[in-house]
Amino acid sequence: MFSSAIAYTGLIIAYALYRWKKWHTKSRLPLPPGPKKLPLVGNLFQLPTSFEWETYAHWSEVYNSDILHVDAAGTSIIIVNSHQVAMDLFEKRSAIYSSRALTTMIQELIKFDWLFGFMAYGEPWKERRKLFQQHFHPLDTATYQPKEQEYVHKLLKALNRTPENFIEHIRHAIGAITITIAYGLDLKPVNDPYIEIAEQALIGLGAGAVPGAFLVDSIPILKYVPSWFPGAGFKRKAAFWRKWATMLVEVPFEAAQKEIASGTAKPSFVSACFNDLDESKDVEAQKIVIRDTAGNFFVGGADTSVSSINTFILQMTRNPEIQAKAQAELDRVLGPNTLPTFADEPSLPYIAAIVKEVLRWHAVTPLGVPHYLTEDDEYNGYFLPMGSIVAGNVWAILHDKNDYPDPLVFRPERFLTPDGTQLDHNVRDPLAAFGFGRRVCPGKHMATSMLYIAIASILAVFDISKAVDEEGNIIEPTGEYVSSLVSHPKPFKCSIKPRSEDAEKLISSL
Ligand code: HEM
Repeated sequence: MFSSAIAYTGLIIAYALYRWKKWHTKSRLPLPPGPKKLPLVGNLFQLPTSFEWETYAHWSEVYNSDILHVDAAGTSIIIVNSHQVAMDLFEKRSAIYSSRALTTMIQELIKFDWLFGFMAYGEPWKERRKLFQQHFHPLDTATYQPKEQEYVHKLLKALNRTPENFIEHIRHAIGAITITIAYGLDLKPVNDPYIEIAEQALIGLGAGAVPGAFLVDSIPILKYVPSWFPGAGFKRKAAFWRKWATMLVEVPFEAAQKEIASGTAKPSFVSACFNDLDESKDVEAQKIVIRDTAGNFFVGGADTSVSSINTFILQMTRNPEIQAKAQAELDRVLGPNTLPTFADEPSLPYIAAIVKEVLRWHAVTPLGVPHYLTEDDEYNGYFLPMGSIVAGNVWAILHDKNDYPDPLVFRPERFLTPDGTQLDHNVRDPLAAFGFGRRVCPGKHMATSMLYIAIASILAVFDISKAVDEEGNIIEPTGEYVSSLVSHPKPFKCSIKPRSEDAEKLISSL
């Protein structure tokens, strides 16, 4: 055991030395500012291990720079802390800022190599992203809005039955929307096997994607260590997670394929792609690309959207006056006891402002999904080395007080004109929530429409307030969040009750 620890340590030092020498001898320009680096380990012992985005935002003030550089034992990391730098690098220089750092754990051991959201920039990524955008186009609202509305109505019924399980109901509804849009499959109201597979697979992805969690990502040669070897627990974990990752990409796709073959398939992303198969080319190869691409819907769309809806519930619990304003708008525009449709969206500016503020106030992916720099670059007199991980600090950008005064306050009015009657287009849209450049979230239209219909429908029929314990004491939600790639509110309690008897009848009639 002791000798294997020495061997691992030796490997880390050799690797760190190699990486460090490589990017310190290349340019006479300085790296962007950041905390002082120690030999070999760089900033490894200064790097924050949770809520990194807040520390990085603070370092921007300390070092008076909206671009920072840190060195994690030989891994070069650039942090982009402002909208301007994000545009300059991710958008204007997108040809070299659009890759992803591949990790041995995610791609090779857990085998999420089919997930285009985590692929390097290149042909396989382009092919899959193009297919996704071609058959899941923002303007083709018929491909996603009816399903969103249908499952949001099911969500209202579930919330009415067992409101205390709201987190579970929201997870189920959003998971069902993404799976049914991707594959056209019917899902069970509870304990659905497709959702179970997808959620299990996400656990592996979440754990495997934590930077620095697995040594094999710094020293890829360790992947050859046999599973029984001391310290090779990562191999056993990877084997377990690989099972779910493979099921996620294969099981729903095979079910959809069967329905297409038997002529019973409902319209979906997969069925649209099958209609477009080019018989003059390799059909099996095309099916693999369709299969891989469909697997991105749940992974990209479910956990992220669930986080935002839970943030909305949390904010309604804490801010009754915002809720009352939103309900007044709904009652005025729709009439009482009427559920909203997508046609009502332009007439509901306060609801639109809540959607924006939910996305801004808590960045679902606070450091985005980091990009990877594929060539040496120079920016504002700094050297940016090829092979750097480049993280857009979405949290910092959405909490920039120049764009959003009092950034920590949840205030939908910031997105409205002073008279509150319409959206103020001079206020920066919180689009950074969806990332940047060529990798920008291709599901953002679905995400925002899902948020709109869920928020407007829930507020039309329910009152959300603080829960009360058995002794009658009010339970204050802590408002704490989990620190991870996709950041969620920690589970909290609240009360969700129909606004009136008529509202309850309306829900029951769905
Ligand atoms: C509130 C909801 C959502 C948020 C906050 C969100 C955010 C993001 C972010 C930050 C990225 C990385 C962008 C970058 O690399 O700069 C991303 C990528 C992605 N998102 Fe979303 N997303 C959401 C919903 C969705 C939905 C509903 C879908 C699918 C239907 C989806 C599919 C994807 C895919 C496939 C990628 C990978 C893109 C690529 O690497 O080329 N997302 N998303």
